Parts: sequence; structure tokens; C-alpha cells
Amino acid sequence: MTKNKSSKQWLKSQNKDLYVKKARESHFRSRAVYKLQEIDQKDKLIKPNHCVIDLGSSPGGWSQYLSSIIDSRGQIIAIDMLPMEPIGQVSYILGDFTEEIVQKQCFIQVGKQGADLVISDMAPNLTGIRVTDQSRNIVLAEFVYDFCTRILKPGGDLLVKLFEGEGTHEYRQLLQDNFSKVLTRKPKASRDQSREFYILARSYKL
Ligand SMILES: C[S@@+](CC[C@H](N)C(=O)[O-])C[C@H]1O[C@@H](n2cnc3c(N)ncnc32)[C@H](O)[C@@H]1O
Repeated sequence: MTKNKSSKQWLKSQNKDLYVKKARESHFRSRAVYKLQEIDQKDKLIKPNHCVIDLGSSPGGWSQYLSSIIDSRGQIIAIDMLPMEPIGQVSYILGDFTEEIVQKQCFIQVGKQGADLVISDMAPNLTGIRVTDQSRNIVLAEFVYDFCTRILKPGGDLLVKLFEGEGTHEYRQLLQDNFSKVLTRKPKASRDQSREFYILARSYKL
């Protein structure tokens, strides 16, 4: 399929997509907002005084949702390697999350008290080679876990996007060993044909 044809098809499916329509009407920047909203409504993740780190935040749907709940007692820090238009109280860091210099900026902003919640909607750039894409996805998720060990408060939570395939079982096991409860979530806004799903790990054990 030519690039032109596939981008036309993507546009067509986007226009038919109910969540895209709903997001446009509600001035959300992405349909992804409904994934976080569904998980939050079910699992009661986000509280007004929480310190939350949004990894892979651009264009900003999840950060918009966070800022509709978190008030001046809390803190929202968003990180993405792509630019993001400012959102109210969200402090945005531009850069590759896997780089120490980027994570350090986040640690400084959060300070000693640590974060209540880390959410990651990151996905690596796809090559189209399934094995390569899957291993990049797991490596990125491992970076997210390491980051959590340095920033989460004891009792803090992690929500991380994964793609079903090699390495997901071991990753889940890693979270099971270090959090009190590990749950799988596939929100309705996550397309059925996508291998994407979310792991929610609750109550980090130090
Ligand atoms: C699916 S989008 C996130 C959508 C977002 N949750 C929203 O609601 O608008 C994934 C994002 O992850 C970012 N990303 C992927 N790898 C990254 C990395 N290593 N460092 C920072 N951002 C990354 C991409 O640039 C992209 O903007």
C-alpha cells in the first residue's frame, strides 16, 4: 500500500471513530483521554492532591484529564520527546525520557516527597518488524519501572502501556514482585485490533 493511500485510510477511520469525535467536541487533544478516564473511573487512581508524572504526554489528552482533577495541592509533570502546547498547571519537560538528564529534571521538580502515580502511554517508534518493535516496547517499559523505583512514594501506583507479546509475562512478574496488586486493563477506547493494553500496578513496596 502506498503511503498516501494508507494515510487516507487512517484519516477515514479517524473520522468514523466515535472517540475521536467525542474528543474533538470536548476539546480534548486526543482520543487517548478516554482510556485514562475509563481506568480512573473504575480504579479511582487520581486524587486532587496527587503528584503525577505523565510519560509520553503529547499531544496532551492525559495531561488535560489530570489537570481537570488535580488542584493546587498537587503537581503534574509531563514528559515527551515531541513538543506539547502548554496546559494550565502542567509542568512540561521536552526530551527523551530514557535520558538521565531528562529524568533528573523531573526528580528535581518532584523533590524528596516523591510521586503518587506514574502513568506511561509511551510507545516506541515502530519499524514494522514485530520482534524489534516488541523488544523496544519492553525495554521502554523497563525504563519506566526503573524510573518508578527512583520516584514513587511507598504505596504509589503505576499505569503503563504494553503490547501483548514476548516479554510481557516477565514484565508483569517484575511488577508483581514489587507492587501489592497487579491488574490488566483494556479500556473500550483501546482499539480491539490493537495488541495494546495497560498494566496497573498498585501500592509500590519499597
Ligand atoms: C500515544 S502518544 C501519547 C498520547 C497521550 N497520552 C495523550 O493523551 O495525548 C505516545 C507518546 O509517547 C512519546 N514517546 C515515545 N517514546 C518516548 C521517549 N523515549 N521519551 C519521551 N516521549 C516518548 C511519543 O513522542 C508520543 O507523543
